[in-house]
Amino acid sequence: MFAEKLGIDYECELNEYLAFDDVSLLPSESRVEPFEVDLSTWLTPEHLLAVPILSSPMDRVTEAEMCIALAREGGLGVLHRNCSIEEEVEMVKRVKREEISGIIRDPITITPETPLPEVVKLMQEKHISGLPVVDRSGELVGIITKRDVLAAKPGSLVRDEMTPRERLVTCYEREILSDGRLRTDKVKEILHENRIEKLLVLNDEGRLSGLVTFKDILRLEENPYVSRDAEGRLMVGAAISPFDRERALALDKVGVDVLVVDVAHGLNMKAVRSMEKISKDVNAWIIYGNIATREAAEEIISSDISNLAGLRVGLGGGSICLTTHVTGVGVPTLTAAALVADAVREQRAKLSVIADGGIRNSGDIVKALGAGASAVMCGYLFAGTDEAPSEKVYIRGVPMKRYRGMASPSAMKDRYAADRYARKVKEVPEGVEGVVPYRGSVRSVVRDLVAAMQAGFGYVGARNIEELWRKARFSKRTMIGMREALPHDVLPEPQFPEKYEKLWF
Ligand code: XMP
Repeated sequence: MFAEKLGIDYECELNEYLAFDDVSLLPSESRVEPFEVDLSTWLTPEHLLAVPILSSPMDRVTEAEMCIALAREGGLGVLHRNCSIEEEVEMVKRVKREEISGIIRDPITITPETPLPEVVKLMQEKHISGLPVVDRSGELVGIITKRDVLAAKPGSLVRDEMTPRERLVTCYEREILSDGRLRTDKVKEILHENRIEKLLVLNDEGRLSGLVTFKDILRLEENPYVSRDAEGRLMVGAAISPFDRERALALDKVGVDVLVVDVAHGLNMKAVRSMEKISKDVNAWIIYGNIATREAAEEIISSDISNLAGLRVGLGGGSICLTTHVTGVGVPTLTAAALVADAVREQRAKLSVIADGGIRNSGDIVKALGAGASAVMCGYLFAGTDEAPSEKVYIRGVPMKRYRGMASPSAMKDRYAADRYARKVKEVPEGVEGVVPYRGSVRSVVRDLVAAMQAGFGYVGARNIEELWRKARFSKRTMIGMREALPHDVLPEPQFPEKYEKLWF
């Protein structure tokens, strides 16, 4: 039982609920080298993630860029819902378009009569550097790239600057696919022979069916752990309010993999009843939350929510949370994960448990997994990355990015986010806004986290998450123990303060 590992006695009225900093994992006999550790986790019965990390559905954390970057690293991005239904749907489409076994399906196209300023605008908006040109009947007639546009004469149209069909290099799908997987060697050969960066792919009828780029091929070869759906496209999650049926249906229709219920108090029974109804009409898997107690988990497990795949767990632990301060209610995420994991196990429910809120480093992730979580959800850890949708700002010369809670005053001004928190007589903010250190790309952050987590598993002697669940033992830390566990007594060399700062992230 996980809660027992944290010293919880279910018979006791007033238990001590421990948080990440209150505990350390104990080292055990190990026959595992860190590089042998397998961090994969089943998020749903259909979706295996190589890296057990999700990004929070928050408007300063997760839009399409974040989802693409995280899926490429083996995790999962969950789109925020502080936007119109159309905008969230468009973000799902963008992720799904990104890559299918290396082939971009359904690429955005343009007609030969389009004026070039419109092409430039489209390229900037959609972050693409080349557009296949098709005529009104959908027939491929050329391609236009950023290079063609930059060198163009004013007033020209696409047809004046494009590479026309007769000079295009194309190939048939059947030439570059084998068992649905892209033959990267074959594609590289064609790209190299013709000195091109983009290859247009045709179906058997000779019509445009996709696009392959050199960049995507390199990425594919570099990272075999990409999170993919059954068709090989990148996986994506999207947040919904438990009362927003229209949004759930629209996201489901465009192929979202997981709908993540985004409500602060998941045990609000109106939310449960509403999701029971909505779930009957969608195909996507559902992750329900947030909940934070064993009773809540039992209630949701016994509810009539269809396609239930996981539980999102945590209340008041997030870096931007004010909930516990304002309302007096909260459960440390570490303990909440253990309580919910116990209920899942007791009920023999095949559900993932996602620890959400308060995770500041790789050590916290290993602790959350050791306490029974199958994955973690992070806002703070990703808010400072390039892919988070906010501007980089310099504060006293130090690069930072803005981050805010979805119940912070500014986020709640957007009507979409307001219903995450119960409607009150007067709107009370339950979140704050501020800045977080800039951290570079998602890719480097995830790779650092993965390496550190594997080292953590190595100390415990666990080869995978299931073994960690069995082997993890915690010790309680005192304030002095906590001080000892961080770098102490050594001052950073004044000329290299960043060496020290990096350790604290
Ligand atoms: P971290 O610690 O990763 O936490 O930044 C992110 C999680 O915090 C939750 N969240 C909020 N909780 N007020 C809250 O009490 C808020 O304004 C707020 N916004 C987000 C959410 O679960 C997220 O994943």
